[in-house]
Amino acid sequence: MKSIASAPGKIILFGEHFVIYGVKAVLCSTDKRITATSQFVDEKIIRIRSSFGEWNMNIDSLNNLENVQQKFMKPFFYIAKKTLMENSIKQGIEIVIESEIPPGVGLGSSSAACVAVAASVNGLFHKLSKDEVVKLAIQAERTIFEQNSGADASVSTFGGLVSYDLKEGFQPIPSRNDLSFIISNSAQVHNTQDVVKQVRKFKEKNEDLFNKLCNEETDIVNNAITSLKENNLNKLGSLMLKNHELLRQIGVSTEKIDLLVHEARKTAHGAKITGAGGGGCIIALVDNSNTKDTLDNLRKISDCFITKIDYSGLQYA
Ligand code: PMV
Repeated sequence: MKSIASAPGKIILFGEHFVIYGVKAVLCSTDKRITATSQFVDEKIIRIRSSFGEWNMNIDSLNNLENVQQKFMKPFFYIAKKTLMENSIKQGIEIVIESEIPPGVGLGSSSAACVAVAASVNGLFHKLSKDEVVKLAIQAERTIFEQNSGADASVSTFGGLVSYDLKEGFQPIPSRNDLSFIISNSAQVHNTQDVVKQVRKFKEKNEDLFNKLCNEETDIVNNAITSLKENNLNKLGSLMLKNHELLRQIGVSTEKIDLLVHEARKTAHGAKITGAGGGGCIIALVDNSNTKDTLDNLRKISDCFITKIDYSGLQYA
C-alpha cells in the first residue's frame, strides 16, 4: 500500500520582515508542489529518498534525533518517529519526496515537504485532518528552526490567499483572483535566520526610521488587500514596487535582486523580493498582455517560471 500526499509552496506578496514587528503580511500558496509517497518496508528503518540522495535511520535510533547528521532531514525523521509512536507500531517506512519547488530560495519548499510528509506517513494508518497535519508539520519544522512562525506550513496546508499578523493570525482574503506571477531566481542562496538577524540589528540602530518604515508598510499592505479584492493589477504592481523600496532600505536586497526587479518592471505591473531577501527570488506580477515579454527578458539573466495562486492546499492522491 502506498500513501501519497502533495502540498504547495508559497510566495510572500507583501510584508516580509515587517511582519515580525507586528505589521500584516500577505501570502499565497503556489501551483508548484511537493509530493510525498510513503510505504511500509520489511527492514526496521526509516528511509527517505529525494533527488538530493537517500538517508536511512534505524527505527531504534529515532529517539536520538540530535544525532541526525544532515540537519535538514531531522523534521522528516521526527514525523516518522511521532507517527510510529502514536500508532504503537515498529514498522519500517520508505518516504519518497519529489519536488517542483527550488529549495533554499524562499519559496516554501521545506514547509511544503513537512506538510506532504506528515500527511503521507500518517495516511498509512489513517488520514489526518488538515488541522492535525499543520500542527505536526510545524512541530517538525521547529526541530530545526525554533522561532518558526508556522506561516508557511499553514498556507501550504490550507492553500489560497491569506493575510497574517502576529495578533490575529491567518485571515483568508475573500477574493478568487487568478493572478499570475513570474518567479525569477537570483541563484543567491539565502539563510532566512541570518537575514532576519541583520534586520534586527538595522532596527536597533535606526529605531525612528524603522518605525516610520513599519507605518509605510502598513499602508502598503492595507491598500494591497483592497486592490486584491478589486483585482486592480496596476495598483498592486505599484504597491509591490513601493514595498521593494522599503525592503531595500532595510538592507535585504542585493545588486542581482535589484537588477531583476529593474528588468521586470519594464514590462510587468510590478516586482519585488519575495521572502527574506539577501538573495533568493523576486516575483513579478503579470497578465496575458505582458507575460511573454517579461519572461523573455528575465530569462536572459535568471532562471524563471510562471506560477499562479493555488486554492486547494494539501491534497491526498
Ligand atoms: O525566506 P522565507 O520566504 O521563508 O521568508 C521569511 C519571511 C520573514 O518575514 C523574513 C521571516 C518570517 O518568519 O516571517
